[in-house]
Amino acid sequence: MLISGKPFRTLWLSPEDRRTVKIIDQNKLPWSFEIADVRTVGEMATALKDMQVRGAGLIGASAGFGMYLAALESLGKTDFRSHLRECADVLIRTRPTAVNLAWAVQRQMCSLESCESAEEAVETAMRGAIEIADEDAEACRRIGEHGMSLISRMAERKGRGKVINILTHCNAGWLAFVDYGSATAPIYAAHDLGIPVHVWVDETRPRNQGARLTAWELAEHGVPHTVIADNTGGHLMQHGQVDLVITGADRVTRNGDVANKIGTYLKALAAYDNQIPFYVALPSSTLDWSLSDGLTQIPIEQRPGEELSLVEGIDSSGRLTQVQLLPDRSPIANYAFDVTPARLVTGLITENGICSATTEEIESLFQFERV
Ligand code: MRU
Repeated sequence: MLISGKPFRTLWLSPEDRRTVKIIDQNKLPWSFEIADVRTVGEMATALKDMQVRGAGLIGASAGFGMYLAALESLGKTDFRSHLRECADVLIRTRPTAVNLAWAVQRQMCSLESCESAEEAVETAMRGAIEIADEDAEACRRIGEHGMSLISRMAERKGRGKVINILTHCNAGWLAFVDYGSATAPIYAAHDLGIPVHVWVDETRPRNQGARLTAWELAEHGVPHTVIADNTGGHLMQHGQVDLVITGADRVTRNGDVANKIGTYLKALAAYDNQIPFYVALPSSTLDWSLSDGLTQIPIEQRPGEELSLVEGIDSSGRLTQVQLLPDRSPIANYAFDVTPARLVTGLITENGICSATTEEIESLFQFERV
C-alpha cells in the first residue's frame, strides 16, 4: 500500500542486511510512521507481545521471519534443531488467539526438521518466511477481488451514485496483514474502481486499533470514513445507515465460528436484528481445521489491565502521553477477543471465493488445501 505515495509492506527483509527484519512499529501510529529493526528471535517475540506487529496475517508473517532469525541464531550450535524447537515455543506463546501465528511456526518447523545443517536451515527458513509473507499478500489481494464484487452488486441494487456504507471493527486492514488487509481489501478494491463507499470505523477499545490504525490507513488511501464510538453501530443500523458489515478474523473454526476483536459479537447481533449482511474476511491461514466449536475451544487472550485503565494520545503540544481513566482500586478484566457463532455470519470472504459459514461450504471451497 502507499504511504505518502510510497509503496510499503508491513514487514520485509532489509536489502542491505539480510539478517535484519524491518517492521512498521504500529505502537507509534498514527502520530508517527517509524520503521524498526528486528534482529533476534527474542526481539521478534517482544514485537509480537508488545503489539508493534499485530493482526492475524501479520503476526503469522512475523512468526515466519522469527523462525528465520532463530535459524540464524542456530548457526554454530551443536544441536541446531533443539534451538529451533525452543524458539518455536517462544514465538507460539506470545499471542494465543490468532491461529496464523502457530500455523506459520508449524509450517516453518515442518521444513526445518528435515534440514541436515544449520546453514541449510537458514536458507530454508528464509525462503519459507518470504513465501508466507508473499502468500499472505496474494490471498488478501484475492479477498479484495471477491469482496469487491459483493459491494459492486450491492451498489447496483442501491442505485447509481448511492454510497455504500460499510461498518468495520478493529483493524483488519493492510496493517494487520502483509498488504491489502482482509476486511479492507474489498473496500480498497471498490473505492479504486470508483464505487462510492464510506466506512464506519469502530474505535475499538481498549487499544483503539480502529481509531488509530484503520482510520489512518483509510485516510492514507483517500477512502471516506468516519470514526465512531464502539457503541454507535447498533444505532446506525437501526436508522438505515449501514448497508454491510465486514470484519476480519483471528481464528475461524471449521464450522464457521469466528474469533475476532472483542465487541465483534455485539456488532453481529445488532446486524442480525436489523437484517444487515455481516461478512467476515479471512485468508485460509486463519482457518483452524482442528476446531469445531469456537465458543468452547478457541483460547481468548486476556491482556494487561493498563490497556483499559490508561488511554494514550497526543496532548495539545503534540507530545505522546497517557492519562488514567479509572479509580486506582477498581479491578479490570481485559478480554481481547470474542467469538461470533456461525449462525450470525452471512458469509466468509476468502481468497478462494465467498461461502456461507458452514462446514460443508468451507470444506468445498478448500478441499485441496486440507490434505
Ligand atoms: O489484538 P490485535 O490487534 O492483534 O487483534 C487483531 C485484530 O486486529 C482484529 O481482531 C482483526 O479484526 C482481525 S486480524 C486481521
